[in-house]
Amino acid sequence: MAESTIFPTVWFDGKLAPLESATINITQMGPASVSSVFEGIRAYQNPTTKALNIFQLDAHLKRFLQSIRLVRLECDYTFDQLREAVVSLVRENDPAADVYIRPFAYAESTTFGAATSKIAHVVIHVTDWDSKLKTDVVSHSAVSSWARLTDNQMAPRVKASANYLNSRYASEEAKRNGYDHAILLTPQGKVAEGPGMCLMLARDGKLITPAVTSGILESITRETVLQLARQALDLSVTEREVDRTELYTADEAFFCGTGIEVVPIVTVDRLPLGDGKPGPISTRMRDCYHDVVRGIETGYESWRTVVNHED
Ligand SMILES: Cc1ncc(COP(=O)(O)O)c(C=O)c1O
Repeated sequence: MAESTIFPTVWFDGKLAPLESATINITQMGPASVSSVFEGIRAYQNPTTKALNIFQLDAHLKRFLQSIRLVRLECDYTFDQLREAVVSLVRENDPAADVYIRPFAYAESTTFGAATSKIAHVVIHVTDWDSKLKTDVVSHSAVSSWARLTDNQMAPRVKASANYLNSRYASEEAKRNGYDHAILLTPQGKVAEGPGMCLMLARDGKLITPAVTSGILESITRETVLQLARQALDLSVTEREVDRTELYTADEAFFCGTGIEVVPIVTVDRLPLGDGKPGPISTRMRDCYHDVVRGIETGYESWRTVVNHED
């Protein structure tokens, strides 16, 4: 995968600043990355107006502040200030194509232990990241030998950087074994999610997804997809525990998340799902999601924060 380009202006502790000037002391890197939470937000260009649609900005910032609170950091910035920070940052960098926006909050500390400062420093930066929604990308996935984190240990509901070591173990194993992605089970053997995305199955024309109590991040794309499934695709949707063998017996499955967007899973542990090609529900959902995030479908307006591109 090509390295992404970071845009020249970042937002750092209350101000827009040149990327080069936003630095931390190198001895803080370890403690700061343990004591940190983050968000990942996409902004999609509308093909006609060229405006950028920041997708689900409010939901991401709400989750960001919740993650900060749950790791017991104190944030000097309100929801409205962070919202204005993201919009002004995108406007300042004025990207001419789709971008990814990464709010990150960390505590400074001299140790890895509990003696960390409670003050949340906040940095937000923007990178490019091409959408794969109009491509034929698919996933050959494998059930991981690593179990998903649990709520009473490293709560998956909190988007904490440290949780992503669990994701790294699972992704590295899947890639090493020749797969595209891992699917993690809970320690009880129920399906949880991918390393950075949620998962949906289709059986007999119905959509099924692990419940929010199945060791998953409360994904904003998952909620988006569930709403689109009910309203736009007129599907029945069930949130419940999912057995491992339901993965193998599904007619279709797909991953969903801000980064991965909507990607059909065509095999699990080398067993083809359906005829081993993206199924009709996955394809319809991918196309519907594409039109909604770009504002080609004009409904669901409250999900998009529009920033106009200056020609
Ligand atoms: C572990 C995990 N699950 C699910 C998701 C999908 O969440 P969202 O749709 O809010 O991006 C992500 C992505 O951020 C993730 O890291």
